Amino acid sequence: MTNVGDVKPDAAIRGPALTFSGDPFANGVDDTIIYESDAIVAFGDGVITHFGPADSVIDSLPAGLEVRHYGSDALISAGFLDSHVHFPQVPMIAAFGEQLLDWLHRYSFPTEKKFADKAFAASVARIFLQECLRNGVTTSCVYCTVFPQSVDALFEEAERLGLRLAAGKLLMNRNAPDELLDTTQTGYDDSKALIDKWHGRDRLMYAITPRFAPTSTADQLASAGELWSEYPDCYMQTHVSENRREIEWVMEHFPDRKGYLDVYDHSGLCRPRAVFGHGVHLTDDELGCLHTAGAAIAHCPTSNFFLGSGYFDVFRARDAKRPVRVGLGTDLGAGTSFSMLQTLNEAYKAAQLHRHALTAAHAYYLATRGSAHAMYIDDKVGSLAPGMEADLVVLDMKSTPIIDYRMQFAEDIHEALFVQMMLGDDRAVQATYVAGRLLHEQSRS
Ligand code: GUN
Ligand code: ZN
Repeated sequence: MTNVGDVKPDAAIRGPALTFSGDPFANGVDDTIIYESDAIVAFGDGVITHFGPADSVIDSLPAGLEVRHYGSDALISAGFLDSHVHFPQVPMIAAFGEQLLDWLHRYSFPTEKKFADKAFAASVARIFLQECLRNGVTTSCVYCTVFPQSVDALFEEAERLGLRLAAGKLLMNRNAPDELLDTTQTGYDDSKALIDKWHGRDRLMYAITPRFAPTSTADQLASAGELWSEYPDCYMQTHVSENRREIEWVMEHFPDRKGYLDVYDHSGLCRPRAVFGHGVHLTDDELGCLHTAGAAIAHCPTSNFFLGSGYFDVFRARDAKRPVRVGLGTDLGAGTSFSMLQTLNEAYKAAQLHRHALTAAHAYYLATRGSAHAMYIDDKVGSLAPGMEADLVVLDMKSTPIIDYRMQFAEDIHEALFVQMMLGDDRAVQATYVAGRLLHEQSRS
């Protein structure tokens, strides 16, 4: 199979561009947003070499460099990041009628059993990553299944595409069907072997992945903590405080802990590079603990609404007095869309229910640099600047008849961006570049 990441062409693209020089939650929108109505992004060997207004960049480009023009209806951005997603759940996305715990038993577990078959896992990995690219998502933090071969399948495809991607094998030794259980020892051994095989290879990163506290014994969580201390630059991903019944269940299993997050903290699982999915119902003390630890929350609004879990308060989490790192996640297959624009749409509504208005600038920050910050890779991806990896998305700002119509009344970039995040979806993704390679381009009728 061809490895599309092998050849990294030098090129430049030209059009309107958006990025962030910092965090609008901390420093305000005006001091952090960078919008150029006519910019050039040039790249070589997978890395951005030039970014700025076309007039000031064009003379410094190497002679003969190809410059692709996207026109004034486009918007160039850093590729989107999805900081929480389950690739094995793609075959059962949009499963009807349950909340978290019943949904897991009725839909997720039966589907995840099929991933014992490597060929099936590989077929889903291909569809999953193609769909990510069609939606401008260039980095994801992915849950696989308990089967190591499902991790191999995803990493093999991600490596072929040249993606920066984190993923890991589920650790799950109780409260699931027998076929899906590992043991503390096999979970540790399999995860360690996968780390040795994949972590740091090309752009791939390993995430130690206890599914969530109810499906691991205290012993398995402690073993995950030990493994992480052996490989501290790996990620650790799990779920926390997503659903009220889930929280009660956790406290029944861990009555000696002072709260849900404390179960993880007690096991050495709360520190930088921990990515906790959801956190909808976290207490102020728990948010303080995440802040102090430098751990992150993946905010997954389409999933939270779909499963009736609640609505996360992103402004409370990012409170300047003790800001917690927050990334955005689709959480497919409980999440309902691969589209980061649709995810922003739902993030806006979640914030509204807390009487906060999430501006378009804050939202696009979360989808790019904010999620990269949550994952401690904001020095590599998530913004447009020389030295950053050339993972890019080019949006079509007039992708449907109604967006085209609406855009004539948009008075500035903020309004135009907001229209995209309310009305846009995969049709708005014109092109996706991974390490400078064009891996998705929408065909135009
Ligand atoms: N909590 C534990 N496992 C899962 C999962 O697969 N999806 C979601 N949304 N929450 C979980
Ligand atoms: Zn999840």
